[in-house]
Amino acid sequence: MATKQLLVLHGPNLNRLGAREPEIYGRDTLNDVNALLASLASSLGATVECRQSNHEGQLIDWLHEVGDVFDGAIINPAGLTHTSVALRDAIASVPGPVIECHLSNIHAREPFRHKSVTAGACAGAIMGFGTRSYTLALRALVDLLGN
Ligand code: DQA
Repeated sequence: MATKQLLVLHGPNLNRLGAREPEIYGRDTLNDVNALLASLASSLGATVECRQSNHEGQLIDWLHEVGDVFDGAIINPAGLTHTSVALRDAIASVPGPVIECHLSNIHAREPFRHKSVTAGACAGAIMGFGTRSYTLALRALVDLLGN
């Protein structure tokens, strides 16, 4: 069984995690989240590469590596969730499974966050559990990819 290579993409403003609206997103920093994912991935027999960008085109270029370099991905598209047809198309264009993930429950927030443009192109979406949304998404992705 080959080790699964997984990609985690964090969208705009998630570099500010820990300092950014902690009452909504919690106090864990992006480094904390990434360290947790690296350790969980290794216990699940996978490897994870975590990247963050504030730029839509960069996230699209990285997504295109799924199916080539990576077996699957987790993406928190952040604000682009609600607007980006191009990001949705990039998710739909790659063969590997992509799971959408959000720290907050977007359906319990402002009406403009209730719609995800991107989730329909994903294998599934996990949200509302804070940092744990990412670890649940990682477990789901490893499970989906199987042995
Ligand atoms: C978010 C939710 C989005 O609505 C918001 O724009 C974010 C973070 C989340 O993880 O809860 O930047 O994706």
